[in-house]
Amino acid sequence: MASGLWWQYGILYEVYPRSFQDANGDGIGDLQGILRRLDYLAGLGIKGIWIAPFYPSPMADFGYDISDYCNIDPIFGTLDDFDRLLKAIHDRGLKLILDFVPNHTSDQHPWFQESRSSLTNPKRDWYLWHDPAPDGGPPNNWLSNFGGSAWTKDGSQYYCHSFLKQQPDVNWRNPGLRAAMFDVLRFWLDRGVDGFRVDVMWMMIKDDQFRDNPVNPATFSDSPDSVRLLPVYNQNRPEVHAIVAEMRAILDSYGDRLLIGETYLSFDQLATYYGRNLEGAQLPFNFHLIQTPWKADAIAAVIKDYEASLPPGAWPNWVIGNHDQPRIATRVGRDQARIAAMLLLTLRGTPTMYYGDEVGMTDVPIPRGEVQDSAEKNQPGKGLGRDPERTPMQWDDSANAGFTRGKPWLRLAADFASVNVAVLSRERDSLLSLYRELIRLRTFQAALHGGSVREVASNGPVLRYERVEGTERFAVLLNLSAAKEEAAVAAGRIAISTHMDREEAVEGRVLLRPFEGVVVDLD
Ligand code: NOJ
Ligand code: CA
Repeated sequence: MASGLWWQYGILYEVYPRSFQDANGDGIGDLQGILRRLDYLAGLGIKGIWIAPFYPSPMADFGYDISDYCNIDPIFGTLDDFDRLLKAIHDRGLKLILDFVPNHTSDQHPWFQESRSSLTNPKRDWYLWHDPAPDGGPPNNWLSNFGGSAWTKDGSQYYCHSFLKQQPDVNWRNPGLRAAMFDVLRFWLDRGVDGFRVDVMWMMIKDDQFRDNPVNPATFSDSPDSVRLLPVYNQNRPEVHAIVAEMRAILDSYGDRLLIGETYLSFDQLATYYGRNLEGAQLPFNFHLIQTPWKADAIAAVIKDYEASLPPGAWPNWVIGNHDQPRIATRVGRDQARIAAMLLLTLRGTPTMYYGDEVGMTDVPIPRGEVQDSAEKNQPGKGLGRDPERTPMQWDDSANAGFTRGKPWLRLAADFASVNVAVLSRERDSLLSLYRELIRLRTFQAALHGGSVREVASNGPVLRYERVEGTERFAVLLNLSAAKEEAAVAAGRIAISTHMDREEAVEGRVLLRPFEGVVVDLD
């Protein structure tokens, strides 16, 4: 049975609340909808549910622009709905992770309303205000991640926003702001939540001298604005670690809680977010499987480099999808999505799944007139929009895939009648069945959820590694190519194949079919 801490052996699952299940027929997912689908999640065998923001918000960035940190947006429900959901999650032995967005608020948040009201307002310093440059322009060259300058003029000064102008960045150097943000953590911890995923953790604090960022020599004329400069002075600043450690200390004062960071960083940088003495985040998200070419040698290198970069005692984690990235089945194709599932669920470290990936949901092209995401609206046609990976969960083949009885806020995939939970649950060898089996195997085999990873290598298109705990040993062999491949393996028995049709004994060698992966239980 599973051993270790719940967030080490357990699997995390991201729910994007607008798109999971609508209960009241307005076409937008809600908390009661999630409640209705909890048995599905429990049955899948995951442990922790991370729900993207559901707080009151003008929805300029679909909830990542928060106007009240301690309430529920009426679109999603009420605090009573929340308490019921949390209890139901705990009743099933599951954990709830909330999304905490400490880098910025909505421009409609009362804090910002006060802050912008005058130069002398006590909350003026809760945000990053700055006088114009001598020419009247923005104070420096920092860029917004959604395009254009990171500065917007409001009255006689500019305020900084790393994202939309409706998302002003707060000032973590101000003790009042700091205390108010920490109170938000306590508010939810007091209600019983099990942890937080911290939005853009690495961006929380900026250079106190507001120095210009250097030009990025590696960009092209069609590169998105946000990468034209190297974010030396507005991201990943050394002072960020003290904030993370304070967050962690608050969580620890409540006992067994989990701090996750959203951290798009190199392995060296990622390692620093665990804290010098592991007093930082327990899981700084590792997004390298999203960013690495889908090639056996590249992935082998990522596994080795990541393992080598981890500070002593740090626990690894892996992510293959989230609400900001093209879906895995679109990135690597349907066949490779099975390989990706086996990889995610057999590597060392906590896996995070993204809703719908377990049924092979793909990106849904959204016609221009139906675009919802500001990232697309601000810089159209650059492929930056995130609507395609946020379409409604495909539950069954009824109208709107069982997601809503109303009009869904985003159109559904054209293939939902065949690609959905109900249909795939009936097929013994479906992707969903593969996920269930892999999760079961991982949960029951200590070597798979807790063991070391060894012998990481690639041989042509075959990626291989072993997982070892005591005398238990598994070999994982993944053929990332469309051709048959023969791979050497010690004596053992195939515990599971991505094709879900073989459990035979092997000795010396195994023939892998196109895009087939196997986990071999070694004698
Ligand atoms: C990261 C979130 O995942 C993304 O959806 C959001 O737009 C930005 N942070 C800003 O909060
Ligand atoms: Ca609804």
